[in-house]
Amino acid sequence: MVEQNKLTEEINRLRNDKNAIILAHNYQLPEVQDIADYTGDSLGLSRTAAETDAQIIVFCGVHFMAETASIISPEKKVLIPDLGAGCSLSDTIDARQLRDWKKEHPGAVVVSYVNTSAEVKAESDYCCTSSNAVNVVDSIPRNKEILFLPDMFLGAYTAKVTGRKMHIWQGECHVHAGIREQDIRDIRDTHPEADMVIHPECGCTTNFLYHSLESSSHNGSAHTNGSGYSKTNGTGHIKFLSTGGMLKYAKESEKKEFIIATETGMLHRLRKDNPGKTFYPARENAVCKYMKMITLPKVLKSLQEEVFEVKVPAKTALRAKKPIDRMLEITA
Ligand code: 13P
Ligand code: SF4
Repeated sequence: MVEQNKLTEEINRLRNDKNAIILAHNYQLPEVQDIADYTGDSLGLSRTAAETDAQIIVFCGVHFMAETASIISPEKKVLIPDLGAGCSLSDTIDARQLRDWKKEHPGAVVVSYVNTSAEVKAESDYCCTSSNAVNVVDSIPRNKEILFLPDMFLGAYTAKVTGRKMHIWQGECHVHAGIREQDIRDIRDTHPEADMVIHPECGCTTNFLYHSLESSSHNGSAHTNGSGYSKTNGTGHIKFLSTGGMLKYAKESEKKEFIIATETGMLHRLRKDNPGKTFYPARENAVCKYMKMITLPKVLKSLQEEVFEVKVPAKTALRAKKPIDRMLEITA
């Protein structure tokens, strides 16, 4: 604890001296979230990176997030405390594969999840995050063909909610794909009253959404809105939400128990913000090893030595900025 206090003190001193801001994703280690100036989802982090006056951004998240911040604010120094913090989902497609896919569908509009490299973004028309994917797709004229990448579960979710036919890249995040329908059924049996909150990257999303839509046409009260899709089934609700949407939903809900289907780092903030409520992870071992590479000693080193700078070549950054700007314009 003494060690942690010392680290925090030194981080605070350097953050002030260097006019730096520390941004952390909701999946970061609890102690990293606690020292951050802002903790949030991919969209909130991108917006904060765009708006900050700080000269240095220490990005406690994964590489594509730091890249996005650097593209939005090229005049700032964007640092990531560990260069190994990658993303298995963004690795499922590269720029050459996207160019080949585009050739097969000339004239199609490319919607890329923000979990992609700068090179892939540069080949895209729109970026989106899990919180505004539905609104981004809705904003595209209905006569347009859409290529959606790289997450197949978010793609299936977005196609169902918008009622659009899309070509969907068959990529997945190993952490979310591992949260299966049976995990949800088991934990719902244990906590039948709890509301169920599912990140649309999860492997169970398609089945649950399908069942929800099926039964809603007979007896349910399903509806969609900008913050997700919900279905009342007699016990708890089932909601599909981004990590930022989960925080908002848990805070505003009158329910006392929630099952959370996403990376378990999410539970720290949910518990901190809602002391009177109980949160159960859908799967205890849903842990992103990349997110967990960022530790307090590495954050300190990052500030001390101004490492590791994430910079995107100007030509790529210019092309990648257009779809990111469009993403930032479209609300969740
Ligand atoms: P959001 O925080 O935008 O919901 O994204 C989740 C994620 O998996 C980021 O890698
Ligand atoms: Fe990528 Fe999955 Fe980790 Fe998110 S949780 S950073 S999508 S590997």
